Amino acid sequence: MLPPRSDEWTLVDVGESDTRVYRRGDVFAKCCDRSGVAELAAERTRVEWLTGTGFPGATVVDWLEAQSDGACLLTSAVPGVPGDALPPSAHGAAMQSLGSVLRELHALTDCPFERPLAAVIATAADVVRRDAVNPDFLTDEWRLLKPSELLDQVVAERPYVESVLEPVVCHGDACLPNVFFDPRTLKVTGLIDLGRLGIADRYTDLALTAIQLHDEWSADPAPFFAAYGLSEPDSRRLEFFRLLDPLTWG
Ligand SMILES: Nc1ncnc2c1ncn2[C@@H]1O[C@H](COP(=O)(O)OP(=O)(O)O)[C@@H](O)[C@H]1O
Ligand SMILES: [Mg+2]
Repeated sequence: MLPPRSDEWTLVDVGESDTRVYRRGDVFAKCCDRSGVAELAAERTRVEWLTGTGFPGATVVDWLEAQSDGACLLTSAVPGVPGDALPPSAHGAAMQSLGSVLRELHALTDCPFERPLAAVIATAADVVRRDAVNPDFLTDEWRLLKPSELLDQVVAERPYVESVLEPVVCHGDACLPNVFFDPRTLKVTGLIDLGRLGIADRYTDLALTAIQLHDEWSADPAPFFAAYGLSEPDSRRLEFFRLLDPLTWG
């Protein structure tokens, strides 16, 4: 893996998908080995695209690539603190900001990236076939079943989800560590980790965010949905995308 060539870089994160993230001042470097270059390059084009829309987030500072060693995506530091670092007193206001920001993201147009449901389910089928599902991502209830049985549930619900599909620009991994907030105003300052950004059903993001609010913040997500503009979220789609996501990593 290509580490940024300087002692001034501090390792801040070792990611799930064989990436390492370093920081030096106001710049983050996300680095991967040769096998991850296409994926990291896809993230780079998504960061550039989102920056072009004026939506708050990191900007691309540089791209380093070496034939044998892999690549590094250098981005500007998004100000503020990640959602998982906010104190409980901040959760109410922060989730309202998050709801309206996701609504704005989902309202963007002319996105060149697609994340079709068929492709996401195919990824899940591949992860399950390789027996690579990470049990840490599953609930106790799901762990009682075989991953192939979880996939069967996804496949069984697919016709329903396709019958009500609402394709919008989704973040694709809308979990709290990927959303930054101003700790004073509790407004969202930006979104990071855009490797899965693309047009997909809006519940891709809503399901992930809502379950995080529940699990990480012990919060009722109703104010989040209200700020997003949904008075009656579709529980079937929330369940569907909540179950599909953990099957796609690995
Ligand atoms: N541009 C950035 N601004 C602020 N923090 C960042 C930035 N890029 C990465 N980070 C920090 O590094 C962590 C890992 O980076 P991320 O792109 O989310 O990788 P992963 O795919 O491993 O989740 C983030 O959760 C965040 O704390
Ligand atoms: Mg992340």
